[in-house]
Amino acid sequence: MTKIYAIVNQKGGVGKTTSVINLSAYLAATGRRTLMVDIDPQANATSGVGVDKTALEASIYDLLLEQTAVADVCVERAEFNLDLVPSSPALSGAEVELVNAIGREYRLQKALDELNGRYEYILIDCPPSLSLLTVNALTAARDGVLIPVQCEYLALEGLSQLTQTIELVRKYLNPDLTIRGLIMTMYDSRTNLSRQVVEEVRSYFPGKVFRTIVPRNVRLSEAPSYGQPINVYAPTSPGALAYKVLTAEILKGDQVKETTA
Ligand SMILES: Nc1ncnc2c1ncn2[C@@H]1O[C@H](COP(=O)(O)OP(=O)(O)OP(=O)(O)O)[C@@H](O)[C@H]1O
Ligand SMILES: [Mg+2]
Repeated sequence: MTKIYAIVNQKGGVGKTTSVINLSAYLAATGRRTLMVDIDPQANATSGVGVDKTALEASIYDLLLEQTAVADVCVERAEFNLDLVPSSPALSGAEVELVNAIGREYRLQKALDELNGRYEYILIDCPPSLSLLTVNALTAARDGVLIPVQCEYLALEGLSQLTQTIELVRKYLNPDLTIRGLIMTMYDSRTNLSRQVVEEVRSYFPGKVFRTIVPRNVRLSEAPSYGQPINVYAPTSPGALAYKVLTAEILKGDQVKETTA
């Protein structure tokens, strides 16, 4: 069975793309057949694994709007043992074009259905908005959402709007949608603020915050400019270790779920 997670937070710059790239890379490194889906017009997940977003023959735009088959859009990144549904700047116009399209909220879900269990994990990187593109990701996210939260002042801001959107999508579009977990990112162990934010988010979302916390680590911010995930760029860095342990935590939780299902 394929597990499909959307990585969502309408707040910008909280670590969505960094989490998608590096969780995908570690899932792939543990031998899981993994697909990354980039549904953000910024296409940072695409460039972050070394794919030139301006030189693509087809992208998620074609998949959503032209009904191009997902297999014809996939890019193989054999170096990282990963496949990618890339994004391109053309996607920024998709929102408007999708508005009158039939089944507009289900376009991504339908496309991923075609894959028929080819992957064990599919991770979807969302734009920083609660747009139709994000709704497509939430509708496709059969196994829930991962919410990165930056350890900073006002971290909780916007999360109630996000949970309301998740509720609405669950009610009308995807009855299986749940919050799989919150990922605390850019933790600075030198400040009390980081610690307080983690406590605050834990009390607001009891039992939902992953134990593994991602530290602020310059290696994580450098890796995308080399088009490499952290397990290749700086495998012994604290950022790499965090995403490795977080991947193991997610895999373990998924196994427990399967055995109790
Ligand atoms: N743990 C970290 N330590 C240091 N820098 C980080 C960390 N996580 C992310 N960054 C950096 O912070 C910036 C924002 O991260 P990222 O692009 O992953 O966020 P995002 O939520 O995807 O942003 P957007 O909303 O624009 O899509 C990037 O420059 C990234 O390299
Ligand atoms: Mg991003």
